[in-house]
Amino acid sequence: MKSKRTIRIGILGFGTVGQGVWKHLQADLSALEYRLGAKLELVSASARDITKQRDVQVGPGQLTDDNFSIVNDPQIDIVCELIGGTTLARELTLQAFKNGKTVVTANKALICEHGEELFNAARDCNTHYFFEASVAGGIPIIKTLREGLVANRFSLIYGILNGTTNYMLTRMEREGISYGDVLDQARALGYVEADESLDLDGYDAAHKAVILAYLAHGRWVKLEEMVVEGIRDITTGDIAYAKSLGYKIKLLAVIRRDFDKNAVSVRLHPALIAKNEIIAQVDEVFNGISLTGDVVGETILVGRGAGQDATASAVISDIADAVVALLGAPPPVISEEDEETYKALADEVQLAGPESVSSPYYIRLRVKDQPGVLANIAKVFADHSISVATMIQEEESDSASARLIFTTHSASESNIETALKVISELDISIDTPFRLRVFKPGK
Ligand code: NDP
Ligand code: HSE
Repeated sequence: MKSKRTIRIGILGFGTVGQGVWKHLQADLSALEYRLGAKLELVSASARDITKQRDVQVGPGQLTDDNFSIVNDPQIDIVCELIGGTTLARELTLQAFKNGKTVVTANKALICEHGEELFNAARDCNTHYFFEASVAGGIPIIKTLREGLVANRFSLIYGILNGTTNYMLTRMEREGISYGDVLDQARALGYVEADESLDLDGYDAAHKAVILAYLAHGRWVKLEEMVVEGIRDITTGDIAYAKSLGYKIKLLAVIRRDFDKNAVSVRLHPALIAKNEIIAQVDEVFNGISLTGDVVGETILVGRGAGQDATASAVISDIADAVVALLGAPPPVISEEDEETYKALADEVQLAGPESVSSPYYIRLRVKDQPGVLANIAKVFADHSISVATMIQEEESDSASARLIFTTHSASESNIETALKVISELDISIDTPFRLRVFKPGK
């Protein structure tokens, strides 16, 4: 009988995800070996401070603070980069490729910033780069796009790609907890990234949207080319008004492709979404992604978007693919190494500018409570071709100011921005106008 090949694994970064991968691989090694037809061996892991107390224990000498001892170890076949960041992680990944190793990563920031370079490097070194855990935690969205739905061209991909902010918006909606208090609770639960701006200002989810847009449309979009807005200015009042109008507020990634104009728009912002949409019902730390393909129609995936176990599940799925590739099977149907396929997919796709994007809007104004105010505002809207759908007026306790909530019919993004600027400069305005888009999947 032919003896099974042993595939050796090294882990860079022994934090939340790294320990999860080690723990689950070790717990179920023989089942995975049986399914893959190979022996698997966890060789070593790295951390910055190897004296730190950890939940998961490794054998003597298996934890090192020398990352390069892992990427340069000739015994190791698969390197899992679970350090995070874009500098050291990039350097280690490139070195691992140079040494012929397959790399598995959960690092969305690294792929968003250096994906093109890293995929090219993997191809040039005749190896593979797997990144399932980089988008939506445990949801197999990368595999779904590259393999399961390979027959499709996607007119719309949208959804919730950040668990932390979804948890916060859910608690604000359900319990009326203020933004500041729910942020403290999210911090206490360990949900919020060390760099909080990644979650709160939308960058983490934007990194993930960039990866999905690349997979679906073959074009690397830069963050500077996108609308990226977070949840900092949303109040429990906004959520309550949205609810009374039949909506929920979610932080949405929206990737729309117009095949006639050969344009794609990639954006990340909070939006009102009708509460009967499945994505609107994805709450807590869950993520949800809707994909509309020309062949399959709409497919929706929902699952845990963050956390040790969900992310480890995705990393181990990549390790399994890496093992299969090392045993000689071809890489996935659309592999990141196949530059020609991606070039064909991209087909010189253009980025849609804000002037070509329109949607209904939710607008919150705080104005002086005096005669003529509504007429002034209505004139600004009319001058910018903005048609009002609903309006709520609430007098504030000082009775000198009023809060006005409008929803509009579909309006162009540039008209809304100009109109709100004009309103903010009127002497009736007290606070800077606040607006959210109303997302409609069909539009
Ligand atoms: P952690 O901060 O928990 O872990 C990072 C690990 O890397 C720690 O063990 C740390 O060492 C180690 N490390 C950092 N710098 C160095 C260094 N210079 N040399 C050696 N080791 C170093 O992060 P996570 O596990 O949460 O995240 C890892 C990756 O996974 C990131 O890219 C993240 O974006 C991604 N990800 C995370 C998810 C999550 O839910 N946590 C979900 C999806 C993706 P030490 O422990 O000594 O500080
Ligand atoms: N900060 C991220 C989130 C971690 O909350 O979704 C998972 O990528």
